[in-house]
Amino acid sequence: MDVMRLEGVWFRYLESPYALEDVGIALKEGEHVALVGPNGAGKSTLLHLMSGLSIPTKGKVTIGGTELTKKDAVNVRRKVGLLFQDPDDQIFMPTVWEDVAFGPINMGLTEDDVRERVRKAMELAGISDFGDRVPHRLSIGEKKRVAIAGVLAMSPPTLLLDEPTANLDPQGRRDLVNILRSIPQGFVLATHDLSVAFELAQRVIVLKKKVIYDGDFRGLVEDEAVLKEASLELPSFSRLMMKWRDATGKEFRPPMSVQESLELLLKR
Ligand SMILES: Nc1ncnc2c1ncn2[C@@H]1O[C@H](COP(=O)(O)OP(=O)(O)OP(=O)(O)O)[C@@H](O)[C@H]1O
Ligand SMILES: [Mg+2]
Repeated sequence: MDVMRLEGVWFRYLESPYALEDVGIALKEGEHVALVGPNGAGKSTLLHLMSGLSIPTKGKVTIGGTELTKKDAVNVRRKVGLLFQDPDDQIFMPTVWEDVAFGPINMGLTEDDVRERVRKAMELAGISDFGDRVPHRLSIGEKKRVAIAGVLAMSPPTLLLDEPTANLDPQGRRDLVNILRSIPQGFVLATHDLSVAFELAQRVIVLKKKVIYDGDFRGLVEDEAVLKEASLELPSFSRLMMKWRDATGKEFRPPMSVQESLELLLKR
């Protein structure tokens, strides 16, 4: 079943030009999708529509079988969890603990359940001892972790993650990749970091106001027109291997990881 469906979706901010044009996307349950494209391509705008935070100017968004209308937006929002690109848009309570607990408390859980969820989410996000800290005095990367904990604590059926690894240190980035690998939920991940996208998603949507590519990563690596149009930069191992393929005339499908690249090189 499709957990989410966008049909002929157009969106503009007030009298600005359209930020999204005729977008059609269907997401299956548990699917892991990367959303990529240049600055201003409409990625954040699209995630806001997918989360019920904004309503399309034209077209239809259906979430969990319910068409999104202004009236239903609140119910729909429980089915998806949005991690904002800017953690300052997400975090608003006086302490980290209260902030992470805000969602679970509003879900009507018991006090014990709330505590357990918050503890687990903070542990996963690597901020177990941040409970009493004041969010606006945290570093940007620390704030991002608090925002991630807030979304994880809600455990919504679908996660919409806007640049989740931006500002995280290498360990934080690795931890987040491992978390996203371990959770059962589907997610859409907007990112400029194609290495992370390669690791986490099977499907990639390239956006530039319109959907200009929707398919697997191997197809994208070989689609020079789309890579150029969206100014995408492949991970270095990928660029190296494609150059090696061109230089040697060898035939192989683009590798998706450093390990796969090494195996190709060793096979010779
Ligand atoms: N609140 C707003 N009012 C008017 N225009 C906006 C608003 N928010 C975004 N835009 C415009 O809509 C377009 C899409 O912006 P959006 O933030 O969705 O892009 P993005 O793909 O997320 O970019 P980035 O990679 O920089 O995060 C841009 O041209 C942007 O300037
Ligand atoms: Mg954005």
